[in-house]
Amino acid sequence: MRARIILIIGGGIAAYKSLELIRLLRKRDIAVECVLTESATHFVTPLSVQGLSGAPVHTALLSLAEDSQMDHIALSRSADLLVVCPATANLLARMANGFADDLATTLLLATDKPVMIAPAMNVRMWQHPATQENLRTLRERGCHFAGPDEGEMACGEFGPGRLSEPESIVTAIEDVLFPHKPLTGRHVLITAGPTHEPIDPVRFIANHSSGKQGYAIASACARLGARVTLVSGPTALPCPDKVIRVDVTTACDMLAACHAALPADIAICAAAVGDWRLAETATQKRKKQNDAPPVLTLVENPDILATLSRSGPSRPTLVVGFAAETEKLETHAAAKKQRKGCDWLLANDVSPGNGVFGGDHNRILFLGDESTESWPSLPKAEIATTLAERIAARFSPSSR
Ligand code: PMT
Repeated sequence: MRARIILIIGGGIAAYKSLELIRLLRKRDIAVECVLTESATHFVTPLSVQGLSGAPVHTALLSLAEDSQMDHIALSRSADLLVVCPATANLLARMANGFADDLATTLLLATDKPVMIAPAMNVRMWQHPATQENLRTLRERGCHFAGPDEGEMACGEFGPGRLSEPESIVTAIEDVLFPHKPLTGRHVLITAGPTHEPIDPVRFIANHSSGKQGYAIASACARLGARVTLVSGPTALPCPDKVIRVDVTTACDMLAACHAALPADIAICAAAVGDWRLAETATQKRKKQNDAPPVLTLVENPDILATLSRSGPSRPTLVVGFAAETEKLETHAAAKKQRKGCDWLLANDVSPGNGVFGGDHNRILFLGDESTESWPSLPKAEIATTLAERIAARFSPSSR
């Protein structure tokens, strides 16, 4: 079942970062319902929070009673986790002392679910004995903490008290939501993104892969405790938390980086690798000629998936490939699985208009050990979670 959190946004300058947090959580397929304190509404608007979370936003006890089918007790227990971000010194003090004078503190007092706190405040406020005492109290009560970080503050001072980066808060949240780490001790090698095959110093041959599917898989495997090496072609994506990323440009670089990352227990080739490169890359920019356009001679690139599948004693125990097709999905995918020698294959239809390249959703035809399954259209994060869980099940002691 989809994880759900209630995000309580406190009134501090760092409140704007909660918007990015909501975006990242939803990308991980975690449902978010938000509560803003009165002062938070001066920093972020309920409308933008609602737009990003895709769920009703609550600001006051009374409005909750009027607008919603849920009362505050039900709301406080409707999620798997309550997250307070940013948690100001004032909000921490009210939590530690059991206040229930607004919707946020009432929910925190009424909940029977775990609570995560992401503090953000001026360094002197953070270091003040009153705040430290409140933190001790909340820690002793079992609250989880994400940060704060040390660094330069909006007020110009330097030290601890800065809100942690949203990516790190998401990781802390996932550690609480998904404490089970069945891939601990496993090394997963993942390729993602496109390759760029240079024509000359200013031009290259590439494709539409954004890296989203491969990065989501890296994130899901790391969440299940795996050590993840992500060999990535050029993308605009940030490296997922707890993942080691190796940046490459061409297919030949990608193969070399994969070899360097071995041994691995599992290899997942989600990259859209260029099948061909130029026989000769020009060292200077090619100039337009007056006569005919240039003829580009191509040679075949190494096949990384096939190479890993047939790498003898260093072959990963489980090799997973993808197939990007625009027609005859099942037939082509089955032939590709056979030809490349991988164990599992995830086929997707990348025809223009499907929105798979660069989009947030995908529809997979899964060719497993013995059977083929059609998965419905799902967020890429959910596909990644499903795949990571299947891998974990394959490696679980009971399945041996
Ligand atoms: O990156 P996104 O925008 O999120 O889009 C996701 C995706 C469509 C790129 C992804 O889901 C996907 O399908 N990746 C594989 C793309 C691809 O190159 O497919 P292919 O059918 O051409 O190759 C089959 C398999 O061989 C793939 O696992 C590929 O990584 C691998 N391959 C291909 C050529 C090559 N020289 N070396 C390889 O390892």
